[in-house]
Amino acid sequence: MTAPRVSELLTRDLASLIHPLHEPKTHRSGRVWVRGHGAMLVDADGKEYIDSLAGLWNVALGHGRRELADAAREQMETLAYASGYNGNSNVRAIELAERLAALTYPSINRFFFTSGGAEANESAIKMARSYWKLRGRPAKTKVISRELGYHGTTLAAMSATGIAGYWPLFEPRVPGFIHIPSPYPYRGRSGGGVSYGVAAADELEKAILREGAGTVAMFLAEPVIGVGGVIVPPDDYFPRIREICDRHEVLFAADEVITGFGRTGRWFALEHWGVEPDIVQFAKGITSGYFPLGGIGISDEIARVLDEAPVPWMHAYTYSAHPVGCAVALRTLQIIEAERLVAEAARRGGLLFDALRARLSEHPHVGEIRGKGLMCAVEFVRNRETGEPFAAEEQVGMRIHAEAQVRGLVTRVRGDVFVLAPPFITPDDVVDRIAEILAGATAAVLG
Ligand SMILES: Cc1ncc(COP(=O)(O)O)c(C=O)c1O
Repeated sequence: MTAPRVSELLTRDLASLIHPLHEPKTHRSGRVWVRGHGAMLVDADGKEYIDSLAGLWNVALGHGRRELADAAREQMETLAYASGYNGNSNVRAIELAERLAALTYPSINRFFFTSGGAEANESAIKMARSYWKLRGRPAKTKVISRELGYHGTTLAAMSATGIAGYWPLFEPRVPGFIHIPSPYPYRGRSGGGVSYGVAAADELEKAILREGAGTVAMFLAEPVIGVGGVIVPPDDYFPRIREICDRHEVLFAADEVITGFGRTGRWFALEHWGVEPDIVQFAKGITSGYFPLGGIGISDEIARVLDEAPVPWMHAYTYSAHPVGCAVALRTLQIIEAERLVAEAARRGGLLFDALRARLSEHPHVGEIRGKGLMCAVEFVRNRETGEPFAAEEQVGMRIHAEAQVRGLVTRVRGDVFVLAPPFITPDDVVDRIAEILAGATAAVLG
């Protein structure tokens, strides 16, 4: 029997599935994936594509790694599942938490596991609120996050997310969530005698003062904005944020769901700026996408308060500390270390950035090429002198995306920002090919 083709599978798909970001019209011309190897994905018609977003920023080690399959199989055969609720644990979870204590920021040494990134943010928010209640400050509940930030789509994570398109069908949002502007160096301007980074960070202080520091539990931010368009902050932004959080007793939670585990060329991205958060959220790359696992790490101070609490912390998931997820994570981290993939992400990110610049920096509609490590973006604009964007109806980003796909490259776009984050193991010639395909797709759409 011959395998069903993409068109037939898509008809069955439309009749039977609801997708994340469900929109039937985009799905009619969708792809159905059947296989992956290294940095490549293969669809049901046998066509090969470069997986230029490593799945959804997560498949850091590339597709088809037998070691990860073996780690999952061995763990499933030994202990497929056990509760992680109080009074229960498993060896892989203990080993993973110990490993993370060594890899994450020095003051973060205790971990709670989830099934993914949104649950990690939910857990961080509930951790911050519970910390202040246990400290006798029950009014400190508000969450300040940023426009363009993405933190997932469960209700509180969605309320923290600062991309308004995620809200309308699901409102009302959770009360007590406030957004400040993100630093966006390409579009921002310095002024008032301070650098742009300091001015952007001072937006946090203004919001804290406006709301009243006694009501604010936490500030939540991605060190490098991912989904919002790979936006790298100025170097003085996060040091200033740390100062402001300390001054007003506001916890700083870093959403490292994309940036954790090497993506930016450091194990964790705030290392670039010598800053430590109070809580760190992670997911995606920790298992290279081979098993749904996320979590949070908390500072020694928060852990102390939680350990001394007179009541249990009534927050839990059936799949917290899943032994198979923990086994796959341990093997993923071993491979990242053995193959020196954090340094490789930095090196290959440099190659990608240089290749994009070589092919696209002179193009009259390329406003900016930016990135950190193996996270890059190209922002297309109508007028590169003024930064004036294209009208949304022109769908420039989507059209370039479609052309790139025809040429064998898959990724995602946000508006007219084309984002790239291939697996850490992407061969150098494939890195170059990504830039070549994007340049070809750009020429096809914009001349
Ligand atoms: C920074 C960040 N936080 C949270 C999430 C949500 O993770 P999940 O989709 O696993 O819930 C994402 C997903 O892209 C993300 O990029």
